[in-house]
Amino acid sequence: MENIRKITNDLYYIGVQDRNIALFESVYPVENGVSYNSYFLDDDKTVLFDTVDKTKRCQFFENLKALLGSKKLDYMIINHLEPDHSALIKEVVDKYPDVKIVVNQKIKTMLYQFFEFERDIENNFLVIKEGDTISTGRHTFTFVMAPMVHWPEAMVTYDITDKILFSADAFGSFGALSGNIFDDEVEIEEKISEYRRYYTNIVGKYGLQVNNLLNKAKNLEIKMICPLHGLILRKNIGLLVEKYSLWANYIPEIKSTLVLYASVYGNTEAAAEIVAQNLAEFGVKNIKITDVSRVHSSFVLSDAFKYSHLVIASTTYNNDIFVSMDKFLSDMVKHNLQNRTVAIVQNGSWAPKAVDMIKEKLSTLKNTNFIDFDLTIKSALKHNQKEQLTELAKLITKSIKS
Ligand code: FEO
Repeated sequence: MENIRKITNDLYYIGVQDRNIALFESVYPVENGVSYNSYFLDDDKTVLFDTVDKTKRCQFFENLKALLGSKKLDYMIINHLEPDHSALIKEVVDKYPDVKIVVNQKIKTMLYQFFEFERDIENNFLVIKEGDTISTGRHTFTFVMAPMVHWPEAMVTYDITDKILFSADAFGSFGALSGNIFDDEVEIEEKISEYRRYYTNIVGKYGLQVNNLLNKAKNLEIKMICPLHGLILRKNIGLLVEKYSLWANYIPEIKSTLVLYASVYGNTEAAAEIVAQNLAEFGVKNIKITDVSRVHSSFVLSDAFKYSHLVIASTTYNNDIFVSMDKFLSDMVKHNLQNRTVAIVQNGSWAPKAVDMIKEKLSTLKNTNFIDFDLTIKSALKHNQKEQLTELAKLITKSIKS
């Protein structure tokens, strides 16, 4: 049976929820699932905005069929060709052979990479460029290119009539929707961490390109955002734009310390806990400690985008940074995280090496400042290192408060 919600007088939510998926993109744990959003407009001409993942094809087609009734599908606007949204394009074209497929040239090229059609569909395409418009009756749509948010072909569609932005992956979030598809039907503050984790891991690397899209969007009056994942925004657009602006410019949300440790027998862990307690004694609030060996890197990266200061405490292993810390730091570099202040604690029973390697790794990131004091542990912290611990906490606190 169909499962549809009305958004406006003529716009409908026909998205689906995936609570079975364990790893989004085979990488990111999604304990609360994910939504694949798709929309349908019942104007003089009918319009489908993107499709959904292939695992949810039955529900999607039941929804589409119920809304179409005896009408034909006139347009299918494709904003993004990643298969979590595009998987059913071919099936839509097969079922509705007269449908006009509205795409940019890059999307068209990529579409032929993903699909083989049994017939020539060239005449189905309506290839648009940025700023082109199409009218479907009451509504007029225009298109804004959004390369690398999240793939190079991505674009967003703006409904000039009702001032709705179909934002593709932008302003999306992890987490399946639970009936409440609008942001004013939930406590948005409880959702921000999953918005952050989605943003930082999916498009965190592409701050420049996200800024380009944000700048273009400034010229549009936006009353509602319909993304391809997560809630439809109609109340908290300002809050999310503000967060996007911070994340895209690699500006920390809070001045505090994220203490990250990788420990084999607990001694580096103990040092991380003591450093955190010392920081608290100096008045630093909202400190967070994470064992990078236990917590998936996507959560740690998300926190690193939030915090201004990082303490990296790692044992030396195979004459290198410990495996799990090395993995996280590589992720941090790959996601281009900038403007962070980093303090390093290293452990090594015979040849502590982690400091040099961590510095080498992170110095490729723009505006990484290292606290000018590295704490070295030989196997375990000793009472005669108390002064060093105090000194490290003092320097971090001074930097936070500066
Ligand atoms: Fe949700 Fe980039 O696809």
